Amino acid sequence: MKPPIHGLLRLAIVLIATGICGSATANDETKLATALHQRVPRPDLVLAAADSGDVTDRMLAAEGIRLWHEHIPGAMGCLRRLANDASLDVVTKAIVAAGQIGTREAFLAVSGSLDREIDDAHVTAIADALDRRAFRVYWLQSDEFGLRPTISALITRRSSPHDPSSLAALEFPPPSHSVVESGRAVFQSAGCVACHRVNGYGHDAFNVPLKGIGMCHDNVTLVQHILSPSLDIHDGGRQERFVTEDGRLLVGRVTRSQANRLAVQTDATQPERIQWIDRDEIIHREHSDVSPMPTGLLDSLTPTQIADLVVYLRTDGGLVPMPSTAHDHH
Ligand code: HEC
Repeated sequence: MKPPIHGLLRLAIVLIATGICGSATANDETKLATALHQRVPRPDLVLAAADSGDVTDRMLAAEGIRLWHEHIPGAMGCLRRLANDASLDVVTKAIVAAGQIGTREAFLAVSGSLDREIDDAHVTAIADALDRRAFRVYWLQSDEFGLRPTISALITRRSSPHDPSSLAALEFPPPSHSVVESGRAVFQSAGCVACHRVNGYGHDAFNVPLKGIGMCHDNVTLVQHILSPSLDIHDGGRQERFVTEDGRLLVGRVTRSQANRLAVQTDATQPERIQWIDRDEIIHREHSDVSPMPTGLLDSLTPTQIADLVVYLRTDGGLVPMPSTAHDHH
């Protein structure tokens, strides 16, 4: 038989704990954070948080709608209010939530908030969410709400490094006509055309043909190689490092070789800029591990655009079917 003191002790602990937790709102916020963490639907807490005066609460509410919109009465109306919030942090969370829900209702709930000023700190997350494939139907494939110019302008402003681990979760679509067309547009807008040629587009400036690249790399490793060109350097672009007598360090490609001097192209993006060095002032010459291909080329692209670019490259610009597996040709 349990002594009665046990129950009293428990009650006392609960009372003290409630006292420590402070106001009811803070307590609700913790409860919502816990429910979100444990994936236990709590529509009541989401609706209360959406009306809270606290920005963090309203951001949590957007997250709750993303996860449990099917269980929340009036979820889309609530999402619309959050998308029109005074705080851009809340607006961004609401648009990201809508992008993941991906329905026409979710698109409509947030699309009315896009005519406001969006600063650089938030534009990347918003652009990536609006460009999710499920949403493209409502502004890119057809422009039934007249939002194409607004959304395109937001996507053009995107500029933020990608995290290789988030790109590892990219979804790659089958090579439909619209995906290949989008991939081609990205191949041009991201500047790949300055140095590579695929299916008639661009200039093969370095003798680094990308034809057949889909057999060498699967989707994920191709993304990694574009993110970090120096991972594995193709011979066509191999650079050299020179140290001269007077302590200069030059990294580049030798484009002309004369009896007493060498022409070194030090910036692949400006091929016409050449530096000459005299052979007898070179005290050290070796192969460089650095690719002439610039890094950061993907920073201006949304994840969906990167997926389209990969499909474009792996199908040789839409000419061959998507290889199912990659064989290592190296
Ligand atoms: C300024 C010139 C330049 C630009 C711009 C450029 N590249 Fe490259 N790229 C190179 C050179 C040179 C190499 C070969 C050296 C190497 O492997 O890193 C290369 C290599 C590659 C490879 C590896 C080829 C292989 O056989 O392993 C891929 C894939 C690639 N580029 C894709 C792209 C894409 C996609 C873009 C646009 C987002 C792009 N490149 C933009 C110069 C460029």
